[in-house]
Amino acid sequence: MHIDILTLFPEMFASPFSTSILKRAIERKLVSINIHNIRDYTHDKHHTVDDYPYGGGAGMVLKPEPIFEAVESIKPESGEVPIILLTPQGRLFCQQIALELSKYSRLILICGRYEGVDERVHSYLVTDEISIGDYVLSGGELAAMVVVEAVVRLVPGVLGSEASLLDDSHVAGLLEYPQYTRPAVYKGWSVPEVLLSGNHAQISKWRHEQAILRTLERRPELLEKANLSKEERELVNKLK
Ligand code: 6GU
Repeated sequence: MHIDILTLFPEMFASPFSTSILKRAIERKLVSINIHNIRDYTHDKHHTVDDYPYGGGAGMVLKPEPIFEAVESIKPESGEVPIILLTPQGRLFCQQIALELSKYSRLILICGRYEGVDERVHSYLVTDEISIGDYVLSGGELAAMVVVEAVVRLVPGVLGSEASLLDDSHVAGLLEYPQYTRPAVYKGWSVPEVLLSGNHAQISKWRHEQAILRTLERRPELLEKANLSKEERELVNKLK
């Protein structure tokens, strides 16, 4: 997968993309990421990327020309490439969208700015708009990193074991079960007996119940959408 990111703050991306799973994915050539400075696509002496809003009001608005030019210079002649604007007005990012995006061989991400982007970028350039939650960030950069991280780990080969993917919170529409490692007793707090039993069927059952219980306690709205069997539904009703 190849990802192009358009931003006014390229330096923000250095550390997350040179650490851990992303770093390894890039080194192993499973993913390549190019960061483009929107300012490099301006032509005036002052490299102007924003301007006052027509009609007045607070804040500045990102100009359309440098963003259009940057995308036009990056976008391949053929092939379907999503052009995604990170903006608080976008559709709410979730695991399902991460999975959807992970199927493309290329993505173009444009980091908006909280105050705004000229509406013609929304109307005539981008094919998708994504928000990472109902709160305010000054720009789309951190949101782009969140999207890249969530998408790249779904690209085949990026994670060591594909099996662990299926256990992750949100993949099955449930939160993940509690995890423990050694020591078996820490400050008098014991690891649940069942996990030390070696009985894999029981461990599996316990984990699944814990996942349901935890989801019911913390994110009950997820259970409405989760794909549960008849027995699991009965368990939910009993726990309620
Ligand atoms: Cl994508 N951008 C900004 N500026 N704020 C956000 C966001 C994006 N997602 C949540 N808040």
